[in-house]
Amino acid sequence: MQASAFAPAKINLILHVRARRADGYHDLESLVSFAATGDRLTFVADSDQSLQLTGPMASALIDGGSGAGNLVTRARAVLHRHLPDLPAGGFILDKHLPVASGIGGGSADAAAALRLLADGAGIFPDHPALLRAAAEIGADVPVCLAGRSRVMYGTGADLGPPLTLPAFPALLANPGIAVPTPEVFRGLALAPGARFTPPGDMDDALPAEPEAWPGAHDRAGWIARLKAGRNDLAGPAEAIAPAIAVLRETLAACPGCLLARMSGSGATVFALFADDATRDAAAAQLHARYPEYWIAATVIGGDAG
Ligand code: C5P
Repeated sequence: MQASAFAPAKINLILHVRARRADGYHDLESLVSFAATGDRLTFVADSDQSLQLTGPMASALIDGGSGAGNLVTRARAVLHRHLPDLPAGGFILDKHLPVASGIGGGSADAAAALRLLADGAGIFPDHPALLRAAAEIGADVPVCLAGRSRVMYGTGADLGPPLTLPAFPALLANPGIAVPTPEVFRGLALAPGARFTPPGDMDDALPAEPEAWPGAHDRAGWIARLKAGRNDLAGPAEAIAPAIAVLRETLAACPGCLLARMSGSGATVFALFADDATRDAAAAQLHARYPEYWIAATVIGGDAG
């Protein structure tokens, strides 16, 4: 028996830092959505418990990718502690997303592994053991497991209700620079327990009620909302890697670009476009200028189907 799951790129459309907690982690509020681009994870039942890697980004995985450090392997180990009766089998990870690049590739893979293992064990994906395992594996895994646009709070385990975003033609672009997440957070220079003061005195609350957000077809309303938000990690990430700022500004200046912003702690920048034609023209322009960059033409949102 073989079963496959898509592991889409996670996009932080808005990422506000609220405070630095006593344990060193930061409380966040982030509007997260997903792209139509991602990895694919296949579970091969009754084979040995190996992890095989394929795809254009396979070689980028640390320790060759098949070791205990891979989030797929870790997802199985963590879930096994919560649910001892998991099906035997191995995984094939078809890796398309750049590694450690702010679009949650590893978290998406872990969430896909949890879904496939739960399915093999005859368990629903909203089983509490799965949710507990997801939170234990990493901050972005719960939102990836849930798989719909929504706001995540705190360090990621608290999720708001699903939101319905229009489908935006989009580009993802990565300059191939690794910006270590802890270093980016350190760049905020917040003392333990300190609240983050947003630039320009902005109220950084993201409403929890779906009714407070624009409607499923109100594209202009969504863009206005997104523009009212920020990614608070962009400043420190761009200080470490100025190429991110250049990429963001290049995308923002492309005809038809509605919004260009870094995702997560970087270095991937996403850009939303008015239509497929301007998106594709921007992709061609970017590719000609930066032939070594990873560029994916995709769609972000589209929760309404
Ligand atoms: O969750 P992840 O393992 O990617 O986090 C890497 C590092 O980023 C953490 O060790 C911490 O230094 C920082 N971080 C944080 N607050 C968060 C998420 C991550 O300070 N909410």
